[in-house]
Amino acid sequence: MKYYSQELVEEIRSRSDIVDVISGYIRLQRKGSNYVGVCPFHNDRNPSMSVNQPRQIYHCFSCGAGGDVFKFVMDYEGLTFPEAMRTLADRAGVELPRQEYSEEAKQQADLKAQILELNRLAAKYYYYMLRQPAGKQGWDYLTGRSLSADTIKRFGLGYASKYSNDLYQYLKSKGYSDQLLKESGLMQADEKRGMYDKFWNRVIFPIMDANSRVIGFGGRVMGDGKPKYLNSPETRVFDKSRNLYGLNFARRSRKPNMILCEGYMDVIAMHQAGFTQAVASLGTAFTQQQSVILKRYTNEVILTYDSDEAGVRAAMRAIPILKEAGLTARILRMEPYKDPDEFIKAEGAEEFQKRMEQAESSFFFELRILERQYDFREPESKTAFFREVSRKLLEFEAGIERNNYIEAVADKYHLTYDQLFKMVSQTGKKLGDIQKVHKPAPLAKQRRKKAEDGSLRSQRLLIAWMSSDEKLFANIVRYVEPEEFTDPICRKAAELLMEQWKGGRLNPASLFQYFTDEEEQKKVSAMFSDTIPTLSGREEEKALQETILRVKQNSIAWQTEHMEPGDMEKLQKIVQKRREIEKLHISLD
Ligand code: GTP
Ligand code: MN
Repeated sequence: MKYYSQELVEEIRSRSDIVDVISGYIRLQRKGSNYVGVCPFHNDRNPSMSVNQPRQIYHCFSCGAGGDVFKFVMDYEGLTFPEAMRTLADRAGVELPRQEYSEEAKQQADLKAQILELNRLAAKYYYYMLRQPAGKQGWDYLTGRSLSADTIKRFGLGYASKYSNDLYQYLKSKGYSDQLLKESGLMQADEKRGMYDKFWNRVIFPIMDANSRVIGFGGRVMGDGKPKYLNSPETRVFDKSRNLYGLNFARRSRKPNMILCEGYMDVIAMHQAGFTQAVASLGTAFTQQQSVILKRYTNEVILTYDSDEAGVRAAMRAIPILKEAGLTARILRMEPYKDPDEFIKAEGAEEFQKRMEQAESSFFFELRILERQYDFREPESKTAFFREVSRKLLEFEAGIERNNYIEAVADKYHLTYDQLFKMVSQTGKKLGDIQKVHKPAPLAKQRRKKAEDGSLRSQRLLIAWMSSDEKLFANIVRYVEPEEFTDPICRKAAELLMEQWKGGRLNPASLFQYFTDEEEQKKVSAMFSDTIPTLSGREEEKALQETILRVKQNSIAWQTEHMEPGDMEKLQKIVQKRREIEKLHISLD
């Protein structure tokens, strides 16, 4: 999906100094040879984002976000790459040629952009309709549910009229094809009626991604009709399992937690009451991908699911997913109200804040639900319950935390600490016996993992050095070849740097275009931002020598491990290499 030539991209880059550009969005402070600022991509107060001027990249040490100047503008402003190019070109006063892309490349990349554009137009249309005389019913419905004009505006709420082809007519008049309109999920088609609007006679909730781009819609009937909500189908831009309603605001809320609700209305009511950290899944069950996203912004999630059976079941399903992502979860008691929307309306924000502080830890919530399956008047059933509880207690790592929970549970169920502790130990022993059979030699595994981490660290450090200056680069590549990096990302980075160097100039920031995956980009920016300890010349030389040696030794170890048994030629090569390394004298002058 290349729109612009490499030369043009580099031209714009060279006129868009990363420190200048980022300073236009957030406050940067000089710190040593770097600049630091508060990362706008996760909830933070500390200056975790580092901007490296020589390498023209940024990296957040807290959430891992990172990349070059284009990536920053794309993520901050929610733009596609070509849009970021245009933004930066404008800023630099460079005129971009209009036609620089192949038709096919354009079509591919454009489908997404076109659907996003259609969504934006549709959202504006619904928004406008809500304010027309014909939209009065929608307006009355929303304000009747205590939403203020400000809130309605902030969430971009709208109205789809009584006629089932209003939006269709409007978008056709703008020249969009039926094919595209179908792909956008805004229209449906059948043989009798042809194309018609998916949403009509409903209030509309635009669904935005983390960058405030409209990716889909929810539409609610005004009253008791069925179905209560209609949601856009999944499209090229709408993935229900990877987005959360309200996240575009919640991510910047600077609150100590995130609040997870069930419905759109709950999120909106919460935000209106000042709980701007509220989000909801998109009419489907909470997913593992969503928990990973939340973990970027917080360590604690408060669950405010409905107080009915369905809500309890949903919470029970969400808890292990949240824990798996490393989040702690607490469950807010909503009774006697059904959901946060009702609660806030009846009791107000202050009361809600209190309930939030009292929210029960997921562990005790699970226990309370578990209890229901047992009959405490039956001794056997009661014992079975405590055995199950012991198993859950074993999920905490042995130590203070587990002991605290044992104490709290014993307290709650009127046991002595010793009684419960004994039961937990016995259960642990039994489970341990089973696990021993199934999990061989965890220690050896751990040790290997450690060695792998160490070698990865050396490889990354060496890349950081290589990208730091051309003289050093020339020196290092006398001793290390790109193939000697065993980590695929480090190897690719080394190869690309080598190409650049041969071409006459190192340009670390331009490497990002070769790593399209978000996770890869994070690794690359982390690598380039690896702080090379400031050492005296002699010490630095020594540290660098050691790192080079470690990378080379690791490469040999890796090759030995991955060699076909009986490949004598390879074996000889390895032996020879090993000898070379032993004799190697690394000098960096
Ligand atoms: P209100 O009744 O307007 O307060 O809605 P709510 O936001 O409280 O929603 P509710 O708790 O009833 O449902 C939670 C979420 O499930 C909603 O926000 C929708 O995303 C989804 N949902 C509810 N009803 C339907 C439905 O009939 N169809 C679909 N597809 N999704 C629904
Ligand atoms: Mn509700």
